[in-house]
Amino acid sequence: MQIQSFNSVRRIIFGSGSLQGIGEEIKRLRGSKVLVVTDPGIKAAGLVDKMVAALERAELPYHVFPEVEPDPRVEVVDESLAAAKDFKPDIVVGFGGGSALDISKVTSVMLTNAGPIEEYFGMELVPNPGLPLVLVPTTAGTGSEMTSICVLSDTKNDVKKGIVSEHMFASVALLDPELTLGLPQHVTAMTGMDAFVHAMESYTGVRASFLTDTLNLQAIRMIAENLRRAYANGNDIEARTQMLQASCVAGMAFSNTQNGLDHALALAIGGRFHLPHGLLTAFICPWVMEFNLMACPDKFINIAKAFGENTNGLNKMEAAGLAVKAVKSMLDDFGISYRLGDYDIPKDIIPEVATSTIGAARLISNNPRNVSEKDVVALLDANY
Ligand SMILES: [Fe+2]
Repeated sequence: MQIQSFNSVRRIIFGSGSLQGIGEEIKRLRGSKVLVVTDPGIKAAGLVDKMVAALERAELPYHVFPEVEPDPRVEVVDESLAAAKDFKPDIVVGFGGGSALDISKVTSVMLTNAGPIEEYFGMELVPNPGLPLVLVPTTAGTGSEMTSICVLSDTKNDVKKGIVSEHMFASVALLDPELTLGLPQHVTAMTGMDAFVHAMESYTGVRASFLTDTLNLQAIRMIAENLRRAYANGNDIEARTQMLQASCVAGMAFSNTQNGLDHALALAIGGRFHLPHGLLTAFICPWVMEFNLMACPDKFINIAKAFGENTNGLNKMEAAGLAVKAVKSMLDDFGISYRLGDYDIPKDIIPEVATSTIGAARLISNNPRNVSEKDVVALLDANY
């Protein structure tokens, strides 16, 4: 057996209304000047007001940087750093979906490392710890609050690139399900499917361990039982709570394994065509599951069972295939097509996408089935 390790955030606060206590958490970390990194949507939804009220109650000086865009470009980090350098915070709070949390993580380490940022793309290349980080997600999907990963868009080369550093683990992840109640239906579906793909890729990946299996299987069960409910009624607090918990444990797991072919494809396509990350991982998911079935059918059978599929009397590959059927049925319910051609993506870019997919070594190296550039071209052609 290979020797494995497991790292995670230091402290997790969970519960409805837990945002109210963020001031105490910041003071526990000896924070006294708070930079809040967030996005315009969170501000427009009135959530920044709730954060600010909690900070004011705790009498903590703060500055809000609300300019994180979806698929944030490397240049956004320059803007958040400029805001930070004027204000001189001693703690950073990330507040929002995956993009806002990712930018808060990289801002915290860029304040204590000389850079340039280009030197930190890759695995564990950031030399120094950053400022203490408190991460507060407002979607149940990216799991970014639990990972040491940040993904940025390199618009010069049309690719998305990752920084992975143990220095980007949060000191505190604060999960308040009430913050996810206002998520629109299609965002609930896409981000929830992204959480499923995290759990599925981490569970079936070659770097899976007994710890990540435990977390991922539980996440898959919770998503199978609650994502449709949260989609059907956004005010279903029980379903919202379970989805936030599922996204959290899936994030905890995949931070230790990385994802697989689905995310490699999502980053390659997303670098050129700026579709939402959750939509990409969702519609790619059935293709990748089908491709990977033969590498670990027993794990796919467990996924099928988590969705309540009846595998009795079937041979192994038939039973494993029910996992793909279950995921397609969920995508059908959410009105998400799994044909590449339905997303205005021209067929002639397939070879280019395949090259950049295979280039994502961090992800491809965890995929359970060996995959070549030729395989990726065939997969994209077959599902166009
Ligand atoms: Fe993802």
